[in-house]
Amino acid sequence: MEVFDVIRERRSIRRYREEKINEETLRKIMEAARLAPSSSNIQSWKFIIVTSKELRRKLKDAARGQKFVEEAPVVIACCIDLEAFKEQSKQTIKLLLKGALRPSLEMILRTLGVGGNSNLDAERQMVNATINVSIASEHIVLAARNLGLGTCWIRAFEEEKVEEILALPEHLKVLALLTLGYPQESPSPRPRKTLEEITIWRTE
Ligand SMILES: Cc1cc2nc3c(=O)[nH]c(=O)nc-3n(C[C@H](O)[C@H](O)[C@H](O)COP(=O)(O)O)c2cc1C
Repeated sequence: MEVFDVIRERRSIRRYREEKINEETLRKIMEAARLAPSSSNIQSWKFIIVTSKELRRKLKDAARGQKFVEEAPVVIACCIDLEAFKEQSKQTIKLLLKGALRPSLEMILRTLGVGGNSNLDAERQMVNATINVSIASEHIVLAARNLGLGTCWIRAFEEEKVEEILALPEHLKVLALLTLGYPQESPSPRPRKTLEEITIWRTE
């Protein structure tokens, strides 16, 4: 399908057929996440692919009882991987030692965790991490649509409960759930603002 057709025809799907998704298809979809852009190419994401019926039932309970979370054959928990940021400092130090980077003093201090406003840095990191995972997650959504599958973004859930259900280590923070499966509905497009309403042009 043309990219624009995929974008235009995507809908949030909340009713799914029981049909399973084969592993090859799932891998193709996840490949789209793997190729997503990220700040400094940090790839600070991890995706938990849940097919277990029991876990999907528990996730439904953690997601305010939204039934289709259990009914979808796959739920993907899209997580921020905080460890990636630690790894990035290690990588930077390696490059500095090799002489492969010509860094500013500020960069060295930041990499060593000295100076600067670390709270602000942490806040910016979280914003970047959120953007990174969101982009990769939407890649999943569009790749799925291209293969005839439906998805729905879910944010209405209790984060701590989901992290407990999936036994996530401390460094993985769940940002969103995506339900995934063959659609059993074909909803009409939901309304959108006009292009005029959402754009501001600066031409000179
Ligand atoms: C960040 C985010 C969170 C969402 N959370 C939920 C949710 O918890 N439950 C749900 O049914 N839909 C959820 N949605 C789906 C939106 O309701 C949906 O995208 C919107 O109504 C537009 O409809 P469409 O996706 O079919 O175009 C979410 C969407 C986004 C992007």
